[in-house]
Amino acid sequence: PLFGNPWIFIRGVPSMQFLPPEGPAEVAFAGRSNVGKSSLINALTGQRGLARTSNTPGRTQELNYFVPDGFSGEGADLPPMALVDMPGYGYAQAPKAQVDAWTKLVFDYLRGRATLKRVYVLIDSRHGLKKNDEEVLALLDKAAVSYQVVLTKTDKIKAGAVPHLMADTQARILKRPAAFPEVIATSSEKNEGLDALRDAILTAIAR
Ligand code: GTP
Ligand code: MG
Repeated sequence: PLFGNPWIFIRGVPSMQFLPPEGPAEVAFAGRSNVGKSSLINALTGQRGLARTSNTPGRTQELNYFVPDGFSGEGADLPPMALVDMPGYGYAQAPKAQVDAWTKLVFDYLRGRATLKRVYVLIDSRHGLKKNDEEVLALLDKAAVSYQVVLTKTDKIKAGAVPHLMADTQARILKRPAAFPEVIATSSEKNEGLDALRDAILTAIAR
């Protein structure tokens, strides 16, 4: 019942040297700035204020670690898993040097984290896969890190367009070696697709 319990924020990681020791299975949420990564973590955990969200791209500026409550104290058991919210890539309202630093952090983490069980690559339903998304998928393929594509903000497009978009996105990742073939469509606003995503996460960490 991992998703039935409260989750807490335990650590913000500004650069690789501040990562927690590798231990619990980690699942990370990656995607372009403003795609809805932090909102999706809030929707999955049912805790609105857990991860900070904003209309302005570039809200999340560190790797933010969230774990089920009750495991974080000194000497306590390690948490069974962690959800990792990431800074977005692509456009952000911040100085270029800072955006470059976040992008490097994201790419270094995605490539080099042994306990990273799966990356959820979020794609805005209105925009589809962009060039920088494809670059991230290529990086994950090369590093043999399992990933799954999640469409976000489906409430922003016509309901009838969702199955087509899912099939189209699925077709575009079909030949990619590290891609999990099933695409999940979600709306954090309307709480849609969340059970499918929770199930996928629990299956991924059990592998
Ligand atoms: P960065 O941290 O800046 O990279 O952004 P993010 O990917 O974490 O996006 P965030 O969750 O902060 O959401 C960005 C904006 O999209 C906010 O205004 C959210 O309210 C909105 N948003 C997120 N998910 C949904 C959704 O499912 N539907 C709608 N309509 N809006 C959403
Ligand atoms: Mg965010």
